[in-house]
Amino acid sequence: MKLLKQIQKNIPKPILENAIFSYELARTATFLTQNLSLPIFEYLLTGQNKTFTKEFPEQMQRALKDLVKLLRKDAIHISRDVYPLEVLKPEPLTQFLTRYPQIIADGVSISQRRIERKAHDFDQEAREYFREVPDYYQRNFHYQTGGYLTEKSAALYEHQVEILFAGAADAMRRLLIAPMKKHFDYSQGEGLHFLEVAAGTGRLTRFVKLAFPKARITVMDLSSPYLKVAQNRLSEFSRLNFVQGDGADLPFKTEKFDAVYSCFLFHELPLEERRKVISEGHRVLKPGGFYGLVDSIQNEDRKEFEWALSQFPVDFHEPFFKNYTQNPMDGLLLNAGFHKIDQEVGFLSKVVSGVKPLSA
Ligand SMILES: C[S@@+](CC[C@H](N)C(=O)[O-])C[C@H]1O[C@@H](n2cnc3c(N)ncnc32)[C@H](O)[C@@H]1O
Repeated sequence: MKLLKQIQKNIPKPILENAIFSYELARTATFLTQNLSLPIFEYLLTGQNKTFTKEFPEQMQRALKDLVKLLRKDAIHISRDVYPLEVLKPEPLTQFLTRYPQIIADGVSISQRRIERKAHDFDQEAREYFREVPDYYQRNFHYQTGGYLTEKSAALYEHQVEILFAGAADAMRRLLIAPMKKHFDYSQGEGLHFLEVAAGTGRLTRFVKLAFPKARITVMDLSSPYLKVAQNRLSEFSRLNFVQGDGADLPFKTEKFDAVYSCFLFHELPLEERRKVISEGHRVLKPGGFYGLVDSIQNEDRKEFEWALSQFPVDFHEPFFKNYTQNPMDGLLLNAGFHKIDQEVGFLSKVVSGVKPLSA
């Protein structure tokens, strides 16, 4: 960690930026290769042949251009110390390599569920948690094995998401940090208390904690197995606490937090639930507090990615996604009482933020 700090401090910014960008391109190439190889494994193991439209090569070219733009932006943020180089620290290679065969094997079960359109396929381990979670949640989002309710799902989830987004998922998550740092005057987070709703396995939590090392973060998710992974991952950090609970019914007092944020949550919620999560976030925020989210782009954000927005819920079980794309998040934030609404698109995602007014 000390060495990374020295590097970040002493290497001239343009050189550092290019080195980071090159590293991120290489990382993306690894996940893109896995992304492109999965249909081959799927064909070999199940006989399912994925078909591509004639527009596909051009659409891919366009998407890759935007992905590269996002990685460049991420490299700029790191080289300018908006967040530290440490965010790029890779997991041990053996861990990465041993997980990949499990992902291929799990891909077969996912493919089977997709063919049969089977989205309520749970074993006893997952069913044990049903009484803790709302009805809409008791499904195999993405057709993934165990939904969000097993240890195996929690162990594979991040890698699967990174493959899906060809190595861009982490950089998309980090889109949130720049507006958050700006809101808090580039502080280290001294005296601040954040709430992360739907933190999952804590991937973004780690990035936010590295950017605001002195902040306290309450890390929350509906899934106990996912939260357990988050707790293990983040054990090196102090000033973190973990709460299993529903973002639409927060167990916290009014005006407790300086920031409330989430990542990749809203596209998985029914509209009414989206409204409740935002309204609860507004309630627990202090006046002047920061509300932020990273999630998928929506219909009006990027016309050229309409094909991706309509294909995603077909390939992956995402029953609320279409409605999500039709109801702009900035409008929902405005209706909930936030002001200073801002948004910025990066590849297939966007960050939307708002501030709770000082007086109602
Ligand atoms: C797509 S995952 C995103 C996880 C994580 N934020 C990330 O960046 O990888 C969606 C997460 O939302 C959580 N979730 C869904 N509905 C929720 C709710 N009502 N309250 C809290 N968490 C919820 C799920 O358990 C899951 O961890």
